Amino acid sequence: MNKDLLLSKLWEQYKSITPSAKKIHALLEQNGEKIENDHIAIRTYNDVRVNIAVLEKPFVKAGYVAQGEYFFESKKLYAKHYEHATDSTAPRIFISELELEKCSERLQDSVKALLDSCDQNIFENEDLVLSGTVWNPNSYADYSSLLEESEYAAWMYVYGFRANHFTINVNALTNFNDLEELNAYLKENNWKMNASGGEIKGTPEQLLEQSSTLADLYAVSFDEGVKYIPSCYYEFALRYPMSNGELYQGFVAASADKIFESTDVKLQRMN
Ligand code: NI
Repeated sequence: MNKDLLLSKLWEQYKSITPSAKKIHALLEQNGEKIENDHIAIRTYNDVRVNIAVLEKPFVKAGYVAQGEYFFESKKLYAKHYEHATDSTAPRIFISELELEKCSERLQDSVKALLDSCDQNIFENEDLVLSGTVWNPNSYADYSSLLEESEYAAWMYVYGFRANHFTINVNALTNFNDLEELNAYLKENNWKMNASGGEIKGTPEQLLEQSSTLADLYAVSFDEGVKYIPSCYYEFALRYPMSNGELYQGFVAASADKIFESTDVKLQRMN
């Protein structure tokens, strides 16, 4: 699959469960902005069947090259980011994986059972990253049990392989000089920002500032009935130049740690 098709499919899939992103996108466009993406984030488990090495394949095939790697100790996550080799306007791809061996045996067993329940051939699909839940996420009890230990593991159970968030490149916006201005504008338009760790994560000294909306709530059908579960959020990134004058291209682990909390069930918005 070529890059543009892959990215547009990720966007369509993301928009379908993230109405706020669709609305904010439209709001900024009405305001005369031409929106570019800074990065697209994808989550997974580090089981060899579905780990980063598996999910990166379509991106590498589409011309992406691995760049930085990141460790999020408290959330038991490892992540890598990818940049496109020839298209500098292409969004970076950020793929994180839950380090199962650092989790409880109970969590490890449920994730293994989940993956064992799938047709194993599905993990060979080139478009696995677009496949959502290839298992049957029908148990609210299983979701809740994962949630007790890891919001990330529980999110994966319900939503699977897809973009967890898209991120607007704030440097490319013309009407906003910084994240404060953009956040203020979004709040004036009744959007709620994730305030965990402050609305703006990162500093100019760290060369990257980010903010995000709280995740939308999405109606999910379980055997136990319909429950509203946080789906995805929209993120905004502003990059600063390094001493050589070029914009910083990486990520800041400490900031992303807080941004991960945008899908936390304790912080949510209903649409
Ligand atoms: Ni992000």
